[in-house]
Amino acid sequence: MTKRFYVTTPIYYINDVPHLGSAYTTIAADVMTRYRQLRGYDTLFVTGTDEHGLKIQRAAEARGLSPQALADEVSATFRETWPQLSCEADDFIRTSSARHQRGAQEIWKRIAAAGDIYLGHYEGLYCVGCEAYFTEKELKQPGNLCPIHNVAVEAVKEESYFFRLSKYGDRLLAFYDAHPHFVQPEGRRNEVLSFVKGGLQDLSVSRTTFRWGVPVPGNDQHVMWVWIDALSNYWTALQEPADHGKYWPASVHIVGKDILRFHAVYWPAFLMSAGFTDDQLPGQVLAHGFLTYGGQKMSKSLRNTVSPMALAQAVSPQVGVDTVRYCLMRSISFGYDGDFSIEDVLNRYATDLGNTLGNLLNRVHPFAPPALEAADYGPLEQELRSAMEKAAKSAAEAFDACSPTRALEAIWAGLSAANVYVDKAAPWTARKQDPGRVGTIVTTLAEVLEAASVMVAPVMPAVAAGMREQLGLEPLTAELDRDQWPLTIGCRPPGTGLKPGEPLFPRLDKARAAALLNEFSPPAKATEEPAAADPPPNKPTVAFDDFAKLDLRVGVVVAAEKVKKKDRLLALQVDVGDAEPRHLVAGIAGSYQPEAIVGRRVVVLCNLEPRKFGKGLVSEGMLLAVTTADGVTLLAVDGEPPVGSAVS
Ligand code: MSP
Repeated sequence: MTKRFYVTTPIYYINDVPHLGSAYTTIAADVMTRYRQLRGYDTLFVTGTDEHGLKIQRAAEARGLSPQALADEVSATFRETWPQLSCEADDFIRTSSARHQRGAQEIWKRIAAAGDIYLGHYEGLYCVGCEAYFTEKELKQPGNLCPIHNVAVEAVKEESYFFRLSKYGDRLLAFYDAHPHFVQPEGRRNEVLSFVKGGLQDLSVSRTTFRWGVPVPGNDQHVMWVWIDALSNYWTALQEPADHGKYWPASVHIVGKDILRFHAVYWPAFLMSAGFTDDQLPGQVLAHGFLTYGGQKMSKSLRNTVSPMALAQAVSPQVGVDTVRYCLMRSISFGYDGDFSIEDVLNRYATDLGNTLGNLLNRVHPFAPPALEAADYGPLEQELRSAMEKAAKSAAEAFDACSPTRALEAIWAGLSAANVYVDKAAPWTARKQDPGRVGTIVTTLAEVLEAASVMVAPVMPAVAAGMREQLGLEPLTAELDRDQWPLTIGCRPPGTGLKPGEPLFPRLDKARAAALLNEFSPPAKATEEPAAADPPPNKPTVAFDDFAKLDLRVGVVVAAEKVKKKDRLLALQVDVGDAEPRHLVAGIAGSYQPEAIVGRRVVVLCNLEPRKFGKGLVSEGMLLAVTTADGVTLLAVDGEPPVGSAVS
């Protein structure tokens, strides 16, 4: 029977846009999916957006939008970003969609029918960021600060439905016992066990303090608590279309360590109550650590996010996405926190990718005969082939255990063995002394590179395709029940040609590398103030009436692109609250990537005389910015005041 693999990411809150931290989870899920596809599995990969809750209702109010309009806008950025990072989810579930709400209400009804929901009152300390209650013990003192968001929680009292979580402690412990790999890695499993052993309290699972949620069946004064709503997505996504149903239960839920408890304790308890048997519960909850940047968690609230697309484009339009995928999976050990650094990306691009993989491919070509021969393997060839088979076996074990970091280490050990083989086999000497042997060397290399092209494909699909083209091979296509993993290195049919091509990882010159270092170095921590520049000379005083003539407004950048042959300029479209966005031209290209500033709030002088920049380019206003020796810094707008607001 065809084996199935259903993997999920958390559904992302829409108070943020995708950044390298959220991309990390999504890329990991995509890697696991591509790996299973190559092994012949029938896979389903689901991601989506978590759109309800007080946080979103407030954010929408602040922007003068309906929550649905805000949800539509931000959800679309998530849906559009993932394919740009080669993450090919099969489905995208939104909690504001009708199909999700039907499913979430169905789960609620099943839990209620089991007698596990009752009405009561809740009085507690609520963190809107987490959409969860905390006890004082769990908060940072003094000041009752949320341990994740570092902001003061709110005291809330409301009527609430409760879920009888306390009833499920023993059954959960028995389940963890019978399924020792349910929570991974091991350290995280221990955290979960001790939480459950500490005794479970019933959970408040509805809210009356906001309207933006799924109505509780039978009492629309209440909306469901966002976590019961959100967790249901893993099931609701499979209800419609009907053929998705065959994938239940999930093989792996990939989650960050901050939301482990919701997935490893509450979610199985909800499912148990809703009538699912133990073998219908998820196979595994895999918790990863945080991506940090300059030592701090990468997050919107710390204003230290990196756009994965901007980074990928800056490294290389051809293989930048694969490079970002590789570095995230290789450098951040799955399960642990890890720091993202541009130095690491540049280093891995030059060494792991450029030297070890790219050069190996290039080493084939100068010696390649027009058509390869059947190889006459000697001891060196046998040694390399078995090193590569060992790499394939270890990589498979690591991917099976959802450890892409270890899998890549194993694959790179195989590639290093291949480089050592070329040094030892010395085709340049063989060409003169024993020309017949060159064919064997090149064929052997082509065979192990073919295996490598399959092994790198889950993490670097575009690189795998490029390798295969140069090796004269068909692109990889997954087929159900066909295991293509190279546990045995194949022999190339004689006569197969190679197609030398451009280097896969062109060297980045010094200036490019320096520009990348400059652009992607972590922002200074809030405490580190930059040295003050010399103040400009004082200008004559202006009357207030003169100042009031300036039409200064808050705008949001909706489109940005470089201007051909004008390195300094970006052509922008900025929504300043008029019917149409304004076209502005700004000399900020040296300091801002176009992708990185879309969505940013800026201050615009709207009634400045239009200025022509040639070739039909006209600026209908000016962005306010500070220019220093280090470049240009745009004036930032605190919070999210409505677009078009007057600045005075
Ligand atoms: N909406 C909930 C999840 C509901 S799932 C039923 C949520 N959303 S989130 O947008 O805040 O976070 C989504 C995921 O992104 C979490 O797993 C979180 O750990 C992860 N990350 C957010 N920032 C991250 C890093 N800096 N590093 C790694 N993962 C990060 O929680």
